[in-house]
Amino acid sequence: MNDKTLRTIRSFVRREGRLTIGQEKALQQGWPKFGLTLEQGLIDLTSVFKREAPCIIEIGFGMGQSLAEMAQNQPDNNYIGIEVHRPGVGCLLKAILDQHLSNIRIYDQDAVEVLKQCIPDNSLAGVQLFFPDPWHKKRHHKRRLVQPEFVKLIWQKLAHNGFFHLATDWEPYAEHMMEVLSKDPGFSNSAGANQFIPRPESRPLTKFEQRGQKLGHGVWDLLFIKTA
Ligand SMILES: C[S@@+](CC[C@H](N)C(=O)[O-])C[C@H]1O[C@@H](n2cnc3c(N)ncnc32)[C@H](O)[C@@H]1O
Repeated sequence: MNDKTLRTIRSFVRREGRLTIGQEKALQQGWPKFGLTLEQGLIDLTSVFKREAPCIIEIGFGMGQSLAEMAQNQPDNNYIGIEVHRPGVGCLLKAILDQHLSNIRIYDQDAVEVLKQCIPDNSLAGVQLFFPDPWHKKRHHKRRLVQPEFVKLIWQKLAHNGFFHLATDWEPYAEHMMEVLSKDPGFSNSAGANQFIPRPESRPLTKFEQRGQKLGHGVWDLLFIKTA
């Protein structure tokens, strides 16, 4: 086997974007308090948050404004955000510090590894995946996060009746999500077979969605529940 075959296919390309002074400062001040690492291994959610509450994971939170808004609007939930883009992590930490939020923790690692290594099975109230990279070109489709194996991993981490909420502005990816999730016997579609849900008010407008709206893109939301 050569190096190429050994390399894992990832859903992202790490770009070291420039940090603003505010993001840099937030990383220094906030990471020790709100950052979590793969090295910590399997975590105990109650001790991480110092309370028992439903825990929701957001994968690929981008700049994190919508996650911060959600955490502020739903103080009775705990949130874990996972994002590999460092300026985004800095931006969310800044929001956490500015808004005095205590119900968010962050991983700056590949969500697949975080789920596999750090999150206990059957523990999550929900998982959110908003506007994942659509990888438009056919030869890049293997990089898309939503694949049967990934959906199984989400299922494994959700508690019974836990939700998996996805949104995308790329119709072919929406159809692909619908197909993969509908085929998984562990999930049921909350909207009925092959149906999308109307855009829920509880989902704050994300930066990416805002950009899409300006370009006239549509939005597709899917809400699946872990039933089996
Ligand atoms: C198109 S952006 C959308 C960001 C945000 N959800 C929004 O709507 O504005 C997708 C994000 O997912 C992140 N991402 C992609 N794959 C990831 C992975 N495996 N683990 C963590 N983050 C990931 C990327 O870094 C990027 O910021």
